[in-house]
Amino acid sequence: MRILSGIQPSGQLHLGNYFAMMKRMIEYQEDHELFCFLVNYHALTTVTSGELLRKQTLEAACDFLALGIDPDKSIFWVQGDVPEVTELTWILSNSTPMGLLERAHSYKDKLAKGIAPNHGLFAYPVLMAADILLYGADRVPVGKDQKQHLEMTRDIAIRFNQAYGEIFIVPEPDIPDSVAMVPGIDGQKMSKSYGNTIDLFSERGTLKKQVMSIVTDATPIEEPKNPDKCVLFAIYSLFLDEKGRQELKDRYLTPGLKYSIVKKELIDVIWNHFTPYRENRASYVENPDRVRRILAKGADKARAVAADYLRKVRQAVGLNY
Ligand code: ADP
Ligand code: TRP
Repeated sequence: MRILSGIQPSGQLHLGNYFAMMKRMIEYQEDHELFCFLVNYHALTTVTSGELLRKQTLEAACDFLALGIDPDKSIFWVQGDVPEVTELTWILSNSTPMGLLERAHSYKDKLAKGIAPNHGLFAYPVLMAADILLYGADRVPVGKDQKQHLEMTRDIAIRFNQAYGEIFIVPEPDIPDSVAMVPGIDGQKMSKSYGNTIDLFSERGTLKKQVMSIVTDATPIEEPKNPDKCVLFAIYSLFLDEKGRQELKDRYLTPGLKYSIVKKELIDVIWNHFTPYRENRASYVENPDRVRRILAKGADKARAVAADYLRKVRQAVGLNY
């Protein structure tokens, strides 16, 4: 089984990215063929400073390596180092109806936020389909916000296969309920672009500020609290097993609980969870050339797979003559 997923180097990586994608990818690499990449072509739709994109790409690579992506067990690379994907994007554009792209929630949301629409933003799902189909992925672990993009990928693959024969594997989304939508500190979906994140590798002071800002309701201390509607409970739960979650629930239901105490505990829980990785990360940050070498090797491996697929596609559509 081939597992593949990507993440945009468009800002600091956060708990939503970690639980929905990064942590699961790292677990998958133990017994699956894993393809993991940083989608810098996609990030061009929002990051308009070259310097920033370079910096964020290296930082995201350090995050993944620190958390345990093992370049010997998996293929880990930067999307733009395998430019074949842009050729496939063009080919797939011709199997992509306008109506399909016009219905994309993520495109409509970005317009609603005032981002000026351009072709890159509109064609984003076609590039994502190319990312997935170019490597013959069977399964794609993502958060719920990517569900529609995966449906579009499947749709594009099926249309292409109907026209040209069974070239592409139609991939399955992998979106477990427990991590499908991690809330941010304001209760909306946690997202780099909403300024509501809890980051994986910030300074302790920043972590403290982010956790202390999690929204809570105004239930008086002497009354029981409702864990099911509490953002703080939802975020804390990500770090707990079934027993721990039940214990926290019981504390919520017992009068006297102070949200500020729970928040202080959560700061330690998050800090301690990432401490071993933070130390690992420093060793990569100090040696960017080592990281570049790892990514270059990953790109070579990815490119070999991509070239094979692209050859079949070029043959099927008649680009070779
Ligand atoms: P962001 O919205 O912060 O820019 P990305 O679009 O780069 O994040 O997402 C990378 C991966 O992390 C995707 O699989 C996405 O579904 C997942 N993800 C991002 N935020 C969340 C969240 N709040 N809850 C669950 N999954 C998330
Ligand atoms: N669109 C995805 C996101 O914003 C990132 C992405 C690009 C991706 N290509 C992909 C995810 C291929 C999975 C597979 O999160």
